[in-house]
Amino acid sequence: MFRSAIAVRALRVDIGKRFLSTSRIVFHENPLGLPGKPRQPAAIDRKGPPPTIPRAQRGLPQKRSLPGVKHIIAVASGKGGVGKSTTAVNIALAAASMKKRVGILDADIFGPSIPTLMNLKGEPELTEHGDNLIPLTNYGVKCMSMGFLVDKEAPVVWRGLMVMKALQQLLHQVEWGNLDLLVIDMPPGTGDVQLTITQQVILDGAVVVSTPQDIALIDVVRGTNMFKKVDVPILGVVQNMSLFICPNCNHETHIFGDGGAMRKAQDMGLPFLGDIPLHAEICDLSDQGKPVVISRPDSPFADCYKSIATKIIDKVFASDKTQ
Ligand SMILES: Nc1ncnc2c1ncn2[C@@H]1O[C@H](COP(=O)(O)OP(=O)(O)OP(=O)(O)O)[C@@H](O)[C@H]1O
Ligand SMILES: [Mg+2]
Ligand SMILES: [Zn+2]
Repeated sequence: MFRSAIAVRALRVDIGKRFLSTSRIVFHENPLGLPGKPRQPAAIDRKGPPPTIPRAQRGLPQKRSLPGVKHIIAVASGKGGVGKSTTAVNIALAAASMKKRVGILDADIFGPSIPTLMNLKGEPELTEHGDNLIPLTNYGVKCMSMGFLVDKEAPVVWRGLMVMKALQQLLHQVEWGNLDLLVIDMPPGTGDVQLTITQQVILDGAVVVSTPQDIALIDVVRGTNMFKKVDVPILGVVQNMSLFICPNCNHETHIFGDGGAMRKAQDMGLPFLGDIPLHAEICDLSDQGKPVVISRPDSPFADCYKSIATKIIDKVFASDKTQ
């Protein structure tokens, strides 16, 4: 009852043309409206006794790897707006420039940024058997985002199970093909969505992005603790927007204080991956869907992202060499 009440409420909201039929959502619990095999075809029989769920399904979710994907990292922060998506995209593009096969999964269901940052739009196609979504590709990087599946203007106001089901499909029903590295752009904070990702997918590690303000640093601790609790290693901290470089005279100012995130990382025993300056060009090019690593590959900004990507790759791919 609870489940169908939520589904019906969600249907009242216009969430885009992909939500094709009410029965599909109510009976298959399939918020993306994907055709495909219902997982438990006879699950909803309201007259009979409640279905029995095998023990294994009631316990903690099993962490899974994704077929064909060698390594998965999450780019996260405890706080919103610190530059996770910008960092995730530029790191992914930097890794692609180093001959890695790379994908980006936009896990921000409420505020997807990847379509804009990667200059992609349109509906993903489905695989031949109609089970999985095929990612869209730009700049040689495969991308999947909720932004491809719902209209930009449509507010995504689902709650609870609907969000979780959508997340499941983004996590487990995308045909990535063979990837060396999947970068997950995490939504801000440390709530259910973040926890679900860390519990369901085997992550090689997390990159925590922070600005140098003190308040953001408290969130670094919170964000890091979440990963620790679920045994995901922290690959390191990226400090974003610490140094302002004046576009007119190239004067450099530490507008939020010098090196806060670096010190915090050291205090917490976390690796420091690097600094990215605050510069209008990074923001403008991101808005245009031409991330700086692609559009200004020889700029000092691109170098910052490449150096961070190199450190991440060295850590994550280190285990491959010993095999
Ligand atoms: N180093 C930088 N210099 C200038 N602008 C930046 C920099 N990093 C990020 N920005 C800008 O800051 C804004 C927020 O960045 P972004 O969307 O990457 O943050 P986020 O942490 O992913 O946000 P959210 O929590 O909403 O997902 C964007 O407009 C982006 O272009
Ligand atoms: Mg973001
Ligand atoms: Zn100046």
